[in-house]
Amino acid sequence: MTTVSEVFETMAYGPAPESDKPALEWIARHDGAFGLFIGGRWADGKSDAGFDVINPATTARLARVTQAGQADVDAAVAAARKAFRTWSTLPGHVRARHLYALARAVQRHSRLLAVLESLDNGKSIRETRDLDIPLVARHLTHHAGWAQLAESEFAGYGPVGVVGQIVPWNFPLLMVAWKIAPALAAGNTVVLKPAEFTPLTALCLAEIANQAGLPAGVLNVVTGDGRTGELIVNHADIDKIAFTGSTEVGRIIRKATAGSGKKLSLELGGKSPFIVFDDADLDSVVEGVVDAIWFNQGQVCCAGSRLLVHEGIAERLVTKLRARMEKLRVGPPLDKAIDMGAIVAPVQLERIRSLVNTGVEEGATMWQPSWACPTDGYFYPPTLFTNVSPAATIAQVEIFGPVLVSMTFRTPGEAVELANNTPYGLAASVWTENINLALDVAPKIKAGVVWINCTNLFDAASGFGGYRESGFGREGGKEGMWEYLKPETRKSEVGTRNKRSRPVPRSALRVPRSQPLPPIDRTYKLFIGGAQVRPDQGYSRKILSPSGALLAEVAEGNRKDIRNAVEAAHAADGWAKTSGHNRGQVLYYLAENLAQRADEFAGRIAGLTGHDAGEGRREVDASIARLFSYAAWADKYDGAVHQTPIRGVTLAMNEPVGVIGIACPEEGPLLGFVSLVAPAIAVGNTVVAIPHRAVHGARCVGRSRRRDQHRDGGKGCAREGAGGARRRGCDVVLRRSGGRRGGRAGVRGEHEADVGGVACQRLDGRQAGGRAGIPERGDPGQEHLDSVWRIGKAPARRTDAQGRTEQPGPGKHLLAPL
Ligand code: NAI
Repeated sequence: MTTVSEVFETMAYGPAPESDKPALEWIARHDGAFGLFIGGRWADGKSDAGFDVINPATTARLARVTQAGQADVDAAVAAARKAFRTWSTLPGHVRARHLYALARAVQRHSRLLAVLESLDNGKSIRETRDLDIPLVARHLTHHAGWAQLAESEFAGYGPVGVVGQIVPWNFPLLMVAWKIAPALAAGNTVVLKPAEFTPLTALCLAEIANQAGLPAGVLNVVTGDGRTGELIVNHADIDKIAFTGSTEVGRIIRKATAGSGKKLSLELGGKSPFIVFDDADLDSVVEGVVDAIWFNQGQVCCAGSRLLVHEGIAERLVTKLRARMEKLRVGPPLDKAIDMGAIVAPVQLERIRSLVNTGVEEGATMWQPSWACPTDGYFYPPTLFTNVSPAATIAQVEIFGPVLVSMTFRTPGEAVELANNTPYGLAASVWTENINLALDVAPKIKAGVVWINCTNLFDAASGFGGYRESGFGREGGKEGMWEYLKPETRKSEVGTRNKRSRPVPRSALRVPRSQPLPPIDRTYKLFIGGAQVRPDQGYSRKILSPSGALLAEVAEGNRKDIRNAVEAAHAADGWAKTSGHNRGQVLYYLAENLAQRADEFAGRIAGLTGHDAGEGRREVDASIARLFSYAAWADKYDGAVHQTPIRGVTLAMNEPVGVIGIACPEEGPLLGFVSLVAPAIAVGNTVVAIPHRAVHGARCVGRSRRRDQHRDGGKGCAREGAGGARRRGCDVVLRRSGGRRGGRAGVRGEHEADVGGVACQRLDGRQAGGRAGIPERGDPGQEHLDSVWRIGKAPARRTDAQGRTEQPGPGKHLLAPL
């Protein structure tokens, strides 16, 4: 095995693969074959036609999807038309709730979507996880805002109708979000076709949207190649087409829709310039180039594929670039440490190869790093061309791959001429430390977006789109909303688009009572360091009622979340120094707030346990009483004065254990939590707690194991508990002392009853709580706190002959001679 010192010596990367299991399980749940998503449910294609979806990094078959034909597209359009009648008339607030719920659902399933996207497209998990999926959620949230504001901000305008949306394969799910978010916000309904190479995340999103309560027929997904796209474009009952893809197909669609009355927006190709002046910060430029052309393997419509460099610094920049390219890593997309994944499909790989060959044949100088790409998938190395003439094929044609073409200029005017010297006009970036130069050059470049000293930055609030052969129409921001709106027929309303909107009539802000409101989606995150935080791995677990109904999806914590929580708990060590009085006050305040929300908590408990609301209420009341008990104990938990004949008198002082890990019992979801957490914090400990349902999946000691432990006297569980916690990277000692040697043995029975996971049975009115629940070094009854671990400093930990961990004795003794 490689040693740490060897790793330091070589600084070599080891593999850091993300698991593909949840994504493959999702595919397997569908038997590896997908129909179409029409009218809120899966539908088989009307014919048997279909095609395979391939993982481009391995060439393995992932799934089979349907090639939708005319009858399928008809069905999807009919479902969308039917849904339009209701969806378009909903108040903006209701549509906002739906879009918000969808954004939240995307966040809850973010890792599944990220992994699925990497498998399907070949792009790196680093990009899908950190860019694609967060931007999907951002788009949906931003447009939930436009839906909310629709009545005031777009007064006099209404939805266009049923929208056909056709998206490409380079950002499969992000393009779906760019398309559907404004369309739905404006009140349209959608028939969406993902690209034939990458249909899986769109299908997964349709399913998630359905689970999130989006009304049936609002979002319909049909799969297929260009033929299905054509059927959508030419469908008589579609009111608008929104397309992203090649300029060639964009031209076909424009011709097909001309004179049909269909609204159209096109986001097409590009050959975007990346202009570097001689005063630019070259190290930043190098990283900028990496993001511009090697991000997503260069398969980006706005990729900075033409490097235009001031002549004086060209050589220096090219040298730096080559050094950086030598360090880029191309490999399996699910490896978290790679820079570039696979090219989407053989046809695209072939296109890149053939254009690169043309570049060489036309006399340009080609350079590639010395290392070789993996051969088991469709990989292509980062490539740099120098000595390129402005009229060369590779300087004019969109390669859509990791190929950078560089040229030089001498003056800003020449830079602008070169920049504008293609049929495209999508994006550009300008690199200089001179703000005057940047502001002079940027407006002269014909491009929808010009970035200054940065590149490829996208946000839902900022419109994106092209000039010339890069298309027309904008996506994102307020400007993007207009693409999905048309003036309402009432004459008085027409023409308000560019005028200041009039005050909104009160009626527009009111939600009609007859309208059933979808609930506002509630995302249960983790609570760490006083803040709600999203889980590191982006997975959620379903919380079901005893009858199997879905109650909520809660964040699934992992090793890093536990680490963060432990760090936060350590950082809060000031809690131990606050007075017992203050800690008591906080617990009383907690009880006070719980009392305020007693009904809500009682309802949740009833949902979780299947008991009636009265039972839930009794558990809340018992929890409040218990909080009072521990609040009361907070300033009364004194130490002892021992008579020790040799030294005279010994003061034995209690001190908090430190950071305590608590896995809550399943019985009594609230009372169990309060019974374990409140005593711990009452005496100054800080806590990392795992609520009961999460226990099973968090690889902690679960209910059944705990039961076993009770049976075998606690030994097996003790080892497992500590081991499980150690697996999570914590310094963990399970507190399982067999009881303090001597002293206060009498409270043991009470303690067992109160805290040992049987608290539920005590909801019969008996006042629970008491001093015995307060964890103490070697407190009797610790064997029942089998889920309480002491995390962190482990001063006098010992291991006995059987390998079991033993605890040090009781708290600090101050020996004071009298
Ligand atoms: P494409 O334009 O053929 O495909 C994009 C989408 O349009 C896919 O969903 C496809 O099924 C659909 N489509 C194809 N023909 C259609 C038709 N006649 N009517 C309606 N829909 C149709 O792009 P392709 O072939 O996948 O890639 C070829 C080149 O296009 C790339 O090398 C790149 O240069 C450019 N491209 C640009 C993109 C951009 O973001 N601007 C995205 C994808 C490709």
